[in-house]
Amino acid sequence: MEDSSKIPVHVSIIMDGNGRWAKERGKERFYGHIEGVESVRACTEEAARKGVRYLSLFAFSEENWNRPDEEVRSLMELMVKAMTNELPTFLKNGIRFIVLGNRERLGDALNARIDDCMRRTENQTGLTLIVFMSYSGRWDILQAAKRLALEASADPSRASEIGNMTLTDFSLYMVTSGIPDPDLIIRTSGELRLSNYLLWQGAYSELYFTDVLWPDFRKEEFDLALAEYAKRDRRYGKVK
Ligand code: FPP
Repeated sequence: MEDSSKIPVHVSIIMDGNGRWAKERGKERFYGHIEGVESVRACTEEAARKGVRYLSLFAFSEENWNRPDEEVRSLMELMVKAMTNELPTFLKNGIRFIVLGNRERLGDALNARIDDCMRRTENQTGLTLIVFMSYSGRWDILQAAKRLALEASADPSRASEIGNMTLTDFSLYMVTSGIPDPDLIIRTSGELRLSNYLLWQGAYSELYFTDVLWPDFRKEEFDLALAEYAKRDRRYGKVK
């Protein structure tokens, strides 16, 4: 019997290595992204089976807009297609689907599909699947600070309340408001950095790095990451 206290509530994944996976096979980078969607499906199924409550995926960063137009366009199309194809599975399996990030940059067509998928799954009570698109950690902190500044200037009587804000109060301004911080952040493909991902929310996350490229990261690899997490001793800066 698995010890459920050792199952992370929120697992987050920096999906990396699609391009290299394709190159190793003499194929176009896009082929790696298509295989990457299969890994998304495998990890979502396994996360739900293991009792993980939130699975979040870094699908497209603010920096990824600097990739060649052709790759950006194909990636966006792939995500719309994946969302449309997976919607019946989400509904059947109680999955709530959420997209977070700088939505203004995504364009009307994609935003309409995202809104539809989010609305139709909003009352589901199983796993919450979060896809971060056009997201970066610094952008998130900046948008929170800007919103707070706007509120403060609109209502100067709130000055002392805002001056006394706690970390928890400030968290409500991040796009992840209401979602627990990730317990475990996984990054595939051997890169050992966070690349501007969940900088605020990941303050106490356990980090797991693997050389496995994202298209090869399936059920067994996900289970290995959970097993490693179960061995970690989380102290949050305290002495135990
Ligand atoms: C990183 O590999 C991967 C991405 C930038 C895109 C990941 C997106 C998907 C797999 C589609 C997800 C779809 C849904 C619905 C969530 P890379 O291109 O940086 O690879 P490289 O480092 O080898 O060049």
